[in-house]
Amino acid sequence: MIRIDEETKIARLDTPSTSYCLGLADGRYLGLLYYGRRLGTELPGDLAELGRLLKPHDTQPTPLENPGQKLTFMNSYPFELPTWGGGNFHEAALDVRTEAGQNGLEMIYDGCRVFEGKKALPGLPASFGGSCQTLEIDLVDPGLSLRAVLSYTVFSDTDVITRSMTVKNEGTAPVTLTRALSASLMLEDRDFEVLTLGGSWARERRIMPQKLTYGGYVNESLRGESGHQSQPFLCLMTAGTTQKSGEVYCMHLVYSGCFLGKVQIDDQGMAAATIGIHPENYEWRLDPGEAFTTPEAVLTYSAEGLGKMSRTLHDFYRCHLIRSPYLHKDRPVLINNWEATYFDFDSDKLLSIADAAAAAGIEMLVMDDGWFGRRNADTSSLGDWQVNTQKIAGGLGHFAGEVNRRGLRLGLWIEPEMVSPDSDLFRAHPDWALQRVHNEPAQGRHQLVLDLANPAVVAFLRETLDGILSSANIEYIKWDMNRALTDYGSPYLPADRQKELAHRYVLGLYALQDHLVSSFPDLLLENCSGGGARFDPGMLYFSPQIWTSDDMDPVERLAIIEGTALLYPLSTMGAHVSKNRNDVTGRTTAFADRAVMAMLGTFGYELDITTLTADELAQIPGQIARHKAVAGLIREGDYYRLASWRENGDYDLVEVAAKDGSRAVAFLFEVLGRPNMRSRVLRFEGLKENSRYEVTADGRSLGAFSGAGLMYAGLALARKRGDFRATFLEIRECSE
Ligand code: DGJ
Repeated sequence: MIRIDEETKIARLDTPSTSYCLGLADGRYLGLLYYGRRLGTELPGDLAELGRLLKPHDTQPTPLENPGQKLTFMNSYPFELPTWGGGNFHEAALDVRTEAGQNGLEMIYDGCRVFEGKKALPGLPASFGGSCQTLEIDLVDPGLSLRAVLSYTVFSDTDVITRSMTVKNEGTAPVTLTRALSASLMLEDRDFEVLTLGGSWARERRIMPQKLTYGGYVNESLRGESGHQSQPFLCLMTAGTTQKSGEVYCMHLVYSGCFLGKVQIDDQGMAAATIGIHPENYEWRLDPGEAFTTPEAVLTYSAEGLGKMSRTLHDFYRCHLIRSPYLHKDRPVLINNWEATYFDFDSDKLLSIADAAAAAGIEMLVMDDGWFGRRNADTSSLGDWQVNTQKIAGGLGHFAGEVNRRGLRLGLWIEPEMVSPDSDLFRAHPDWALQRVHNEPAQGRHQLVLDLANPAVVAFLRETLDGILSSANIEYIKWDMNRALTDYGSPYLPADRQKELAHRYVLGLYALQDHLVSSFPDLLLENCSGGGARFDPGMLYFSPQIWTSDDMDPVERLAIIEGTALLYPLSTMGAHVSKNRNDVTGRTTAFADRAVMAMLGTFGYELDITTLTADELAQIPGQIARHKAVAGLIREGDYYRLASWRENGDYDLVEVAAKDGSRAVAFLFEVLGRPNMRSRVLRFEGLKENSRYEVTADGRSLGAFSGAGLMYAGLALARKRGDFRATFLEIRECSE
């Protein structure tokens, strides 16, 4: 709920358990009074009290009181929109270059309004729906006739506040935005630590907590995508924060391109955090009458540690961001041929996989990279999206028919954003690839990036996608992207708009994915980027699942799952049972243990099923049945991170509990066998104290226990012998 005190203009935004309060100094400067636990007091008197917090120093005058001391005020005031050049030396969220070639501006309050609901953001993915209210605050630089509309939405069912900004040129001269970030949070530093996710290919989204010291911390991507190395996410937490306790402030950006997240600890004891489009290599020319809208930032505060933050974000993304019709449906159990065959396949080979898969109860075959052009290695053919009939005899339509005849659905891999220098497309349109006039563009995986800022390229890709999907019964698309962007030069854009390229590329990508899911509403889309380099809220808006990592080794996956699930629901994480020995790590693990770990996600297989042993083959129907029995719970339930191998060096324990506490499922992974140790005691969460629950481990009953017993005393479980051992636990409410 949003309330504004008419007299003081103090605004209070309440979610079920948080409050966010804004106020004005001198009736001009918009600042953050408070963000945290929900305030119990009512308007208006209490807010006048709060207003005192706006004065950075009790003894220091505001600019109105003493214009001669304005600079001190500007440097220490908690601006909601820090701007460049006026004495606020924190990372600015807004800056322009004027016609006179000068930078900097000062934004003054110019009114606000509250309305029910929420506006869509033009060309950008953004949250939607439910019961929500929006506060729009106008700030203007009168000298420039530049208006910034700050938009805050509060949702009645979740502790999230979303923010974005629209900048409008209301003057008569063009201006150039040189930075436009989505949200800033200027908080009093409480010895915060910062937490973000980082990693690399096959090691994505590792949890990385760090001490914050004077100066600060930067988390960024300049790769044109969110990247293996970074996540558009920052969280500040009080020292000693755990899953269950501590205060946490989180900022997560609904964006898939270059971003900057930064926290500065300053000389005044302030922690100034900001997130948005990376100002490096960014500009946007605004002609008179034009506007620019930033991506949306998702803010949440938890007074109950990281676990509450994760559950808030999971619910928010499930209820307000993912729009796929598959969101609340079981996903097909698929088998993907990538690690089974790499490029070395033809339709006979794939149909032999399909035969064995159908017999085992698998529901979909996904044909990965290599079905088109002359693609027998990664050195050619991206862009030539015609089926290679030497490999896929009879073409896509015929192949789909053969797969369907076996009772399987067909899915297809594609990498639309890329072009191989060795392709007919590149030979016909060399100017469609990103390149600078003065350099040979860098190839990555022997490929170049198409210029999605060029509408002709986007139109070509739209037609390509339409053509492929209309030619055969294809029910799933894996949309891949296998290299970062470099050589930021667009042969299409004029010289003074080259710095718009990185963002225009992302807008082109969003337009394509929007077209795809709107034109083929029943399509299941899975985004992917050389493993998990574009696992971000922007892509989630289009696809309900994203390929998490090329690393399917269950041990490596522990850290990847922990980091990804810190922010994202398990149902968004593409997860497959891979072959033995693992191609990435070279590690050998048991088929059954790999299958248990793949249930913490969408569940599928990625191996040559025709080479499995009879014993392994025989396990598949049971694995699928187990997955199906808990898929709904895993998709919709509450996630609890009960133990972390990263922290304890021994084991991982993850639980998903039904929201009504009637059921739970837990996944235990013991990394290395240890001799001569007591039984492990597992303590669960999210159950009803006074109910009784039947507990099974790997299908074997362990007896019935009270909810209180399971949550507080715990369940003693003998350790398994051997290394890399998974245990699947089910907890069901029973009558006695
Ligand atoms: C990278 C993906 O992550 C893999 O799963 C596979 O699709 C390859 N690309 C194909 O080139």
